[in-house]
Amino acid sequence: MEFGVAGGNGLVELEKLAQEVEKEFPVEFEIYGFDSGMGLPAPQDYRDLPYIWKEGFFHMDLPALKARLARSTLVMGDVAETVPRFFEDYPDAAPIGAIFSDLDYYSSTRDSLGLLKAPDQKILPRVYLYFDDIMSAELGGLMCDEVGQLKAISEYNSSNEFKKLAPIHGMQYTRKRPARWNEQIYIHHSFSHNQYAMYVHSDSNRQLPLTNRGLNDGSAI
Ligand SMILES: C[S@@+](CC[C@H](N)C(=O)[O-])C[C@H]1O[C@@H](n2cnc3c(N)ncnc32)[C@H](O)[C@@H]1O
Repeated sequence: MEFGVAGGNGLVELEKLAQEVEKEFPVEFEIYGFDSGMGLPAPQDYRDLPYIWKEGFFHMDLPALKARLARSTLVMGDVAETVPRFFEDYPDAAPIGAIFSDLDYYSSTRDSLGLLKAPDQKILPRVYLYFDDIMSAELGGLMCDEVGQLKAISEYNSSNEFKKLAPIHGMQYTRKRPARWNEQIYIHHSFSHNQYAMYVHSDSNRQLPLTNRGLNDGSAI
């Protein structure tokens, strides 16, 4: 799912990547793009970062985008309205597995995160999220936990006991080419999900026998 589509470059790229991954792995994706089509709404207060964004930025050319999309579903309207009725409008939608969050504002991101309260059969126990607007070093550090997407994340975490959004600590060290976006990937942990505690490691019997050196063979613990 992409929240915040604008012109649609991200969604077009997502379609290409989904096709590549489907060739390599036995998985199929459905792709949904959420947007009002009108560009950014009026900011509600300072938490929507009115010092860097304005109403009307990033509007969509809907006919042009529809002509480019091969397989995505566009969910048009304010996310405050489309998110609460998503599962009624799309009862056959696949379970949510990944979300690209790019609605810019605190208020819009907060409203979109309501989708994470989906029933267990409509969401994976752990969902990958990319947050586009949480890094601000090049903007002089004007984002923090009290504004923008970071505020929506911290508020979500404090108001949900058994659902939390958490960064993947050390992700950059698993990448051949560490990149800025590694810090922008979060996992939504749904601790009360009926599959959260299911064993998923590829090794079904993990042991660390004592060796002559007294150390294990260096494989990851
Ligand atoms: C920065 S743009 C998205 C860019 C896009 N992800 C890309 O890769 O090109 C942000 C978009 O969020 C949408 N948006 C912001 N708040 C919204 C809301 N409450 N409901 C629906 N769309 C919203 C705007 O219409 C705008 O197109």
